[in-house]
Amino acid sequence: MKRFVSAGLAAVIAIGLGAGAWAQDITIKFSHVVAPDTPKGKGAEKFKELAEQYTEGKVKVEVYPNSQLYKDKEELEALQLGAVQMLAPSLAKFGPLGVPDFEVFDLPYIFDGYDQLRMVTDGDVGKAMLAKLEDKGIRGLAYWDNGFKIMSANSPLMVPDDFLGLKMRIQSSKVLEAEMNALGAVPQVMAFSEVYQGLQTGVVDGTENPPSNMYTQKMHEVQKHATLSNHGYLGYAVIVNKEFWDGLPEDVRGNLEKAMAEATVFANGIAQEENEKALQAMMDAGTTEFHEMTDEEKAAWKEALAPVHEEMADRIGAELIEQIKAATGSGA
Ligand code: LMR
Repeated sequence: MKRFVSAGLAAVIAIGLGAGAWAQDITIKFSHVVAPDTPKGKGAEKFKELAEQYTEGKVKVEVYPNSQLYKDKEELEALQLGAVQMLAPSLAKFGPLGVPDFEVFDLPYIFDGYDQLRMVTDGDVGKAMLAKLEDKGIRGLAYWDNGFKIMSANSPLMVPDDFLGLKMRIQSSKVLEAEMNALGAVPQVMAFSEVYQGLQTGVVDGTENPPSNMYTQKMHEVQKHATLSNHGYLGYAVIVNKEFWDGLPEDVRGNLEKAMAEATVFANGIAQEENEKALQAMMDAGTTEFHEMTDEEKAAWKEALAPVHEEMADRIGAELIEQIKAATGSGA
């Protein structure tokens, strides 16, 4: 809100002083919870570079990585209050805000690779989901990929029974809670910034994340086993405080939209490779044993996790789940 007021005031001054004099004042604080050296971290830096270039320095973008400013839950509140202007929370974190629709992305095995996912995020279903944020004072600008998650713990996770009784850290998504329950684990919501310590001290036994997050948070140092399950997707919605965004002069907003469109192509272009590199780096580190799944193991995981789709239909909307399956052609 504060920033909106200052942008508004600056616009009034601009009328008096002539174009260009005011806009030095626009600062976008872009807060996120992951390391700079991740798909999201690099996407944020690319947006900063392009936004400052296209607005000829009238807009300054300050990127705050690694939960430096806010942790998971606080960052959404901070955005609504206008203490920061831009975030890219994981799609699994919008439930507490009252928009559980995005949890559809958490459904196990709903996407078979990035191409299927893109059919949703680039299409009408993806746009309609972003539009639901407007009521919350938030404008959704783009979807950014991280990647497909792997499961880790200090004991091997080959078949669903291996999860029995394990305390597994999850993001604040009811779908992920149902997923861990379906495997017989005990889900525990924990802020991303606390996961390494949670694993190290045994507060939780294991977790799920794409390799880039696991590696850059050094989780592999405190997890002896990981299964390359690719059982679910983790991606982001890049969002802004709506009042702030709507209050920007049209030309500035246009340039920022252009910067965001290009940063999105960049971020989504590097995500898969970043995850492959992170996985390789963890394999080289040798602290974790990585298990490839056999077809039988994969079938057993799929069978154990299939009921989650039906169980969550009331929360997410059976229609939305069907729309996604229709868009991806998975129909399953
Ligand atoms: C997590 O909390 O595991 C992820 O959402 C972190 C992130 O933003 O990638």
